[in-house]
Amino acid sequence: MSHNGSNNGSATGSDNGSSDGSPDGSQNGPTTGSRLPGFYKLSVEERRDLLRHRADLSEQDLETLDGGGLDTAAADRIVENVVGVYALPLGLGLNFRVNGRDVLVPMAVEEPSVIAAASNAARMVREGGGFVAEADDPVMTAQIEIVDVADPEASVARLEAAAGELIDLAHATLPRLVDRGGGAREIEVRAHPRRVVVHVHVDCRNAMGANMVNTVAEALAARVAELAGGRSGLRILTNLCDRRCVRVKARVPQSALGTAELDGAAVRDGIVAASLFAEDDPYRAATHNKGIMNGVDAVVIATGNDWRGVEAGAHAFAAVSGRYRPLATWRAEEGDLVGALEMPMALGTVGGTLQAHAGARLAQKLLGAADASTLGMIVACAGLASNLAALRALAGEGIQRGHMALHRRATSPAGHRVVGDRS
Ligand code: MEV
Repeated sequence: MSHNGSNNGSATGSDNGSSDGSPDGSQNGPTTGSRLPGFYKLSVEERRDLLRHRADLSEQDLETLDGGGLDTAAADRIVENVVGVYALPLGLGLNFRVNGRDVLVPMAVEEPSVIAAASNAARMVREGGGFVAEADDPVMTAQIEIVDVADPEASVARLEAAAGELIDLAHATLPRLVDRGGGAREIEVRAHPRRVVVHVHVDCRNAMGANMVNTVAEALAARVAELAGGRSGLRILTNLCDRRCVRVKARVPQSALGTAELDGAAVRDGIVAASLFAEDDPYRAATHNKGIMNGVDAVVIATGNDWRGVEAGAHAFAAVSGRYRPLATWRAEEGDLVGALEMPMALGTVGGTLQAHAGARLAQKLLGAADASTLGMIVACAGLASNLAALRALAGEGIQRGHMALHRRATSPAGHRVVGDRS
């Protein structure tokens, strides 16, 4: 174990002093892009004022921040049996640079230290040039199940031969999507022992797409059953949308990684060892992935998206090889720490919830992500940052010290600062 002079305090990053974007957490550098030095030291009012100028927020946007963007009347139009609304804290993930662009990342989460830790990790990644991300086309998949198929082999052949007709039928049900450049891209036929399953892969553009592909599934089912010589069963999307993945890479110089107990090289090796543990052991992989979802879900929720769908897709993807695996892995490369994450990401920047939820619209405005693919890449960066922060803490002092300091703050009377809390 050796000390690193540039250590910035809590290894969890729950020490907000290190999330201000300055290399050592003590200096106030220039306020540019996603770096807002000293943000954590400001009052909520001062943070909003800063944000107003930075993100060009209107008075109405600021009111939205106070009310959460959803009143009871709006909530009553979204779900059933409404008696009120339920609130979560909304914070900003700082220091994120994604494909060369700085982004302020809105995060809605109840767990202390998630936002500070992600901000702290994003600062480390920034020192290596920022996150590099890519996204597949926004393709969601409808499943049409056909049962009681007399001759599965012949049925598969007939369905494959009719792919063009089925795509035309899908387009007839979604003409507006086709006008916007989306539409059915491929018909895939899969024979199971007791059923034939037809997948219709649909490019949903900026919609999450569940309604679109469910519409397609229902519209095509009768013709698919006829072609298959069977009876139609379930018609619904799959949340294992593995044609709609995002991939993120982060390179962290070892100089950015040191903690109070360990120098950067030791932390890097500890993080690689933690990654290998998750790759070897599904019990550890589940917790490793939970740390990723801390960041992912917080942005998915803030932007009004379906986090249950993203969760289902993530864990199904993690297990798709037959063994549950980590969504992100870490290795040493030329002295640096390099992390890579891949996961399905079904998100929308248009659609029902956004129309009804001013808070979700505001979060998307803050992000400046014009399309669903860009949003998905940013969400995945928040996931990789959360994973990095957790593994760095676990490789060093453990997560409890920083975590509990923030927890005590959350549970102490308003305004009361607890010992060890530098925020
Ligand atoms: C806690 O919310 C998340 C962690 O358990 C993740 C991990 O163990 O990698 C710290």
